[in-house]
Amino acid sequence: MTLEKILRSQGFGSRKQCRQLIWNEQVSVAGRLITDADEDLPCAGLVFSVDGKEWTFRQQLYIGLHKPPDYECSRKPSHHPGILTLLPQEYVNRNIQPVGRLDHDTTGLLLLSDDGGFIHAQSSPKRHVRKTYEATLFEAVTPQLIAQLQEGVKLIDEDKPIAAQVRMLDTHLLELSIDQGKYHQVKRMLAAAGNHCVSLRRSAIGKLTLDSLGLPMGQWCHLEPGQLAQLV
Ligand code: URA
Repeated sequence: MTLEKILRSQGFGSRKQCRQLIWNEQVSVAGRLITDADEDLPCAGLVFSVDGKEWTFRQQLYIGLHKPPDYECSRKPSHHPGILTLLPQEYVNRNIQPVGRLDHDTTGLLLLSDDGGFIHAQSSPKRHVRKTYEATLFEAVTPQLIAQLQEGVKLIDEDKPIAAQVRMLDTHLLELSIDQGKYHQVKRMLAAAGNHCVSLRRSAIGKLTLDSLGLPMGQWCHLEPGQLAQLV
């Protein structure tokens, strides 16, 4: 692929903007400054730098973000900054999107990608990708609460009761795993079971845990094939 096309595919702007970057001597590959926008380069494993910042060529983006509180997942955030402000503008230019949403006050693992097929497959209710949350509760955990959540609670707009896999982590801390991703699902399930969620953190998606990524809050990383394989 020509260097200009490579830059365009990686989110560095229009044809004109990418050619300009190259002509302005801002782009190098393996320490070699390239000023010919039409130079052909192999994409696989390509590492290039723009203004001294290193980038690896990626056909598609698969990112894990440790979402902080007070960030919105919606396309048009209204009260808080959007989560996309935590990513490089080049990835936003590539139309990276979150896979599903977390509430603005929920923290934890959020996936983002520019691969429409991946986003669709991950969010499809048919795939039953398990999401695990740690919920800090207002009232102490009781055996009745656990039993109720395991048996299933009825949410107003749902036909059938929804059940969760539940584990008590502390007096006021509960781990819940659910297969669906309904609106405010965990908070509504806890409210329906007579308690109240004070804070919520998504600790895992499928078998991929946030802890295994070692990401401080607000930080993100590229997910490698082995990590993507754990999203089941
Ligand atoms: N359930 C909720 O209530 N909120 C979230 O952000 C995620 C799951």
